[in-house]
Amino acid sequence: MSVHTAKRRLAPADIKALKGERPIVSLTAYTTPVAKLMDQHVDFMLVGDSLGMVLYGLDSTVGVTLEMMIAHGQAVMRGSSNACVVVDLPFGSYQQSKEQAFATAARVLKETGCSAIKLEGGAEMAETVHFLTQRGIPVLGHVGLMPQLINTTGGYRSLGRNDKEVEKIRKDAAAIDDAGAFAIVIEGTVEPLAREITGAVKVPTIGIGASPACDGQVLVVDDVLGIFTDFKPRFVKHFANLAPLMSEAFATYAQEVKARSFPGPEHTFQLKKG
Ligand code: KIV
Repeated sequence: MSVHTAKRRLAPADIKALKGERPIVSLTAYTTPVAKLMDQHVDFMLVGDSLGMVLYGLDSTVGVTLEMMIAHGQAVMRGSSNACVVVDLPFGSYQQSKEQAFATAARVLKETGCSAIKLEGGAEMAETVHFLTQRGIPVLGHVGLMPQLINTTGGYRSLGRNDKEVEKIRKDAAAIDDAGAFAIVIEGTVEPLAREITGAVKVPTIGIGASPACDGQVLVVDDVLGIFTDFKPRFVKHFANLAPLMSEAFATYAQEVKARSFPGPEHTFQLKKG
């Protein structure tokens, strides 16, 4: 009898265990082909609600629906077998009550097959995070800049620049840590505070615009590939510059179609002779 030891996907517990071992690598992913290319290189893929802005051209993440998140979560799961996949809960699908959060998160896990969800929020969401984690739903927290709150906070600027902000983010991170999250995203936060939180919490911190002091890093995939070029925040690095390559490909295609040089004989089906 042979014993199959199929390689399994990284689990939220594996991500948590990386704290203090090595930096954790994460990127957002929204589609099957990109997930396939990324799968062996990241510890977890985040199906972020940033997809509303990146893929759908929305002004903010507020308009993202649960159906969008589930469809893209399924796509990313189909394209991966190694990385842990975490799906964001969209605005309005979890803030009302811990019961609403559980129902939404359970639906995401069941319908996508992903192993964890992310939700934005600090001390005010700690009870919800505890409720979920006690009931079989691994949670990735998200503190600091919280894009879903754009309508009350009013902007996308880095935080932790005055005592009030420092105290709030410090308390938020501690509350989400105590509530049982397996890791915490810190977004748009100054280095000294991100460093202090990383040293204080039990679980890994994953920074985006929160300095190298965090236990890991996440970026939006279109930023990494240089596809989204309308503006470039300070924390973004383009690891490739695909936008001009894509424009050139579209221009060449258009030229060849107009010149009737595409499709050529090699792209054309013919009837067999004889
Ligand atoms: O939605 C998203 O992509 C995110 C990351 C920026 C952390 O929340």
